[in-house]
Amino acid sequence: MTIERLKTGIKGFDQLVEGGIPRGYQIMVSGLAGTGKTIFTLETLYRGAKEFNEPCIYAVIGEDNEKVIRDQAERFNWDLDKTPNFKLLVIPVTENNFDLVSRIKEEAAKMGAKRIGIDSLSALTVNSILFERGMANKLMEHADYAVAESLDPKYNGGATQHLIYLFIANMQAIGATVFYVTDLQANGESKDGVSEYVGDGLIKLSTIEFSGGPVRVLKIEKLRSTKTPLEYFGLVIGSNGLETVPLSKWLSNERLYKK
Ligand SMILES: Nc1ncnc2c1ncn2[C@@H]1O[C@H](COP(=O)(O)OP(=O)(O)OP(=O)(O)O)[C@@H](O)[C@H]1O
Ligand SMILES: [Mg+2]
Repeated sequence: MTIERLKTGIKGFDQLVEGGIPRGYQIMVSGLAGTGKTIFTLETLYRGAKEFNEPCIYAVIGEDNEKVIRDQAERFNWDLDKTPNFKLLVIPVTENNFDLVSRIKEEAAKMGAKRIGIDSLSALTVNSILFERGMANKLMEHADYAVAESLDPKYNGGATQHLIYLFIANMQAIGATVFYVTDLQANGESKDGVSEYVGDGLIKLSTIEFSGGPVRVLKIEKLRSTKTPLEYFGLVIGSNGLETVPLSKWLSNERLYKK
């Protein structure tokens, strides 16, 4: 039986993973702040809807982030509103994450969704634990304490991991391929400490020093059932979206490598 794969449509990327991401997989798109997690995930869903005619749901956590997504899409001339297969779902920060699963499930059934993006799993984890524990008021009074307790598995008795496992299992049951934006700590591990192990795939975005200057890079840390390269690839943010390029190309191509 051959594995059915989806093309992200990101220039250069699909050929790195035997033609695409296995369908139905749960994929973590991880990195520090500003490394391109949102652009990567949004482009995969936008191209899915636009070029491959696949219904897609992009769930963004926090009302304020709707504008961020729309502005970013506009910069690349991605016409979200003229792409009926693309649905932007804005989730209030106060929404319990299992209500969110029900909403996505309902929407996915209606649309026949093939790709789902969650931006971000980290935001969801922090918020939902606070609200489930009735900690919203405490957060206002003792912000540092509440955030530390909600996020750090050392303080919350494993509640974060438990929640991640349950959430991903519930999302997986929907049957679509799901892309989760996840935040990393400076040491390279996820903030929740477990999503990289639960996910079927882990795409890590970062910057590294290369030939005298910092460059954006992408590394496929894992993708189950797929032969994956071990090396870093350059990640170019172009005028219409992303492109992955072999790092060696950056040395010889002025367009891609600028000091
Ligand atoms: N059109 C563009 N050309 C070049 N660089 C861009 C362009 N648009 C965005 N960027 C860069 O990409 C970064 C944002 O990428 P993105 O929002 O995907 O990162 P992120 O990993 O989701 O960040 P965060 O963790 O803050 O949400 C911007 O901060 C900016 O540095
Ligand atoms: Mg982002």
